[in-house]
Amino acid sequence: MPTVKFPMRLDKFLGHATELSRELARRALRAKRVTVNDEVVKSASLSITTEDTVMLDDEVVEIRGPRYFMLHKPEGYVCATTDGDYPTVLDLMGFDGVDLSIAGRLDKDTTGLVLLSDDGQWVHSVISPRRQCMKTYLAELDAAIDDTVVQRFGAGFTLRNEVKPTKPATLKAVAGRQVEVSIGEGRYHQVRRMFAACGLHVEKLHRIRVGSVELDTSLAPGEYRPLTQAEIDGVSS
Ligand code: URA
Repeated sequence: MPTVKFPMRLDKFLGHATELSRELARRALRAKRVTVNDEVVKSASLSITTEDTVMLDDEVVEIRGPRYFMLHKPEGYVCATTDGDYPTVLDLMGFDGVDLSIAGRLDKDTTGLVLLSDDGQWVHSVISPRRQCMKTYLAELDAAIDDTVVQRFGAGFTLRNEVKPTKPATLKAVAGRQVEVSIGEGRYHQVRRMFAACGLHVEKLHRIRVGSVELDTSLAPGEYRPLTQAEIDGVSS
């Protein structure tokens, strides 16, 4: 699905949102059949943003472009479209059965930033291993880290039952047993397994950033909001 960019000329908006060609849209404008925010408008070049309400013959017209969301995932939900045992993030959002893909899954007990969209290309650009989009987590461990762990994460190492070493990851202490870790890959349970390989247990894991998109701190666990255009454009660039 192509990205629809706002602001957009009114004739172009009508062309996207209705069956009218641009020329027929201009005729409808001349015939005073179009209102924007309840005012009759005849100018084809008027700039339309996502805030405007456009009506044609007293019916609201909308562009159903691709949708992009961030969710503050609480514990206990699985990042799957359906699951026999646990509630999914789509159930939580009330989007059961809606065609949204999850751009980078979190474990059931991990909390924090989850991105979702029905724009398959965009989702791919976020999760593609080739793109190495950085994901940043706050982790609470059962003990404090030392320099050896930081160095191992930075250098990369081979996880149990795997062949390829992990790509360089950054790890820093925040306070006490809390650390911030950033990885570019998305292997199965990767953060928990990397700490386990260093003899540490992850007690809590919370994702705060994917690429340039930060978890909006005004979202309570379980809440979600649409991404801004800057977030959509920035996350995969
Ligand atoms: N790494 C993990 O181990 N778990 C997650 O949920 C995300 C990254």
